[in-house]
Amino acid sequence: MVFAAAQHSSSGCPPHRDLPEAIAALKRQRNAVILAHYYQEPEIQDIADFIGDSLELSRKAAATDADVIVFCGVHFMAEVAKILSPDKTVLLPDMDAGCTLADACPADGFAQFRADHPDHLVVSYINCSAAVKAQSDLICTSSNAVDLVKQLPANRPILFAPDQNLGRWVQSQSGRELTLWPGSCIVHETFSEQALLQLKLDHPSAEVLAHPECQQHLLDHADFIGSTSALLRRSEASEAQTFIVLTEPGILHQMRKAVPEKQFFEVPGADGCSCNACPYMRLNTLEKLWQCLTEMAPAIEMDETMRLRALAPIQKMLEMSR
Ligand code: 13P
Ligand code: SF4
Repeated sequence: MVFAAAQHSSSGCPPHRDLPEAIAALKRQRNAVILAHYYQEPEIQDIADFIGDSLELSRKAAATDADVIVFCGVHFMAEVAKILSPDKTVLLPDMDAGCTLADACPADGFAQFRADHPDHLVVSYINCSAAVKAQSDLICTSSNAVDLVKQLPANRPILFAPDQNLGRWVQSQSGRELTLWPGSCIVHETFSEQALLQLKLDHPSAEVLAHPECQQHLLDHADFIGSTSALLRRSEASEAQTFIVLTEPGILHQMRKAVPEKQFFEVPGADGCSCNACPYMRLNTLEKLWQCLTEMAPAIEMDETMRLRALAPIQKMLEMSR
């Protein structure tokens, strides 16, 4: 960190308060677009051209006519942008912005999983590496997983990777039996059930909104389950005035902007820690965003054979998503 700070000052990074303007100028100069996930720091969300969930961000990355995509999210998201827009430069402000789901599903282990189930269709959550996507029949996100699984032929068994919590929820909603890879998200496994119950007691009329990456014992308390965008839409459409939100708290920034008269509570991690914030998503900062647009690095690079193999199941998802 000390090294990074020193690098910024010696490389001419403007003071923090001037960064939004400096980034806007660089963006025009580079013909760049800034895409941000809801789990980014509020100050990054505020300067993004588009904020969305994984599916919406993929669609934007495929459709943009910018020359440069700055992906303020995590590595697998920037990879998807590169797979869909290979001629564009795709920048990720911090290359260490990974994901426990992607990390827990290595390509060789996944190949063995497939080999052990040769007759199965392979559905992979978008939170996985390009090498795993390249071995999949279909990609899904949290917003379309149930709908896509329901569309698959009834006579074919299905492998689902890498999120077992999302997989169990998809199983319950689609009525399809899924063989699950045993991965999970470090953030969505951390919420304290005790803190959630206390919040419910303190705010008895509150609606509980939950992301399907949460464990079942937490989903059992939810009034509404959906992707980050679905949770945001629900907070606007619901008649409830108070919400307890079981996902990464970055989304609360957009909820509070959309319906400022309503009240939102995040759920802390066990022991009251702040580990409900995704440590990977939060690696991106305004300073790193400025730096990557200045240096045009770090950029996502991908072998073309791998890209084409990973592209097919992503395209299939985009075609099948309503
Ligand atoms: P969505 O963007 O599909 O809501 O998924 C959340 C997530 O965990 C991204 O890493
Ligand atoms: Fe991965 Fe969880 Fe962070 Fe999303 S919130 S990027 S699933 S570690």
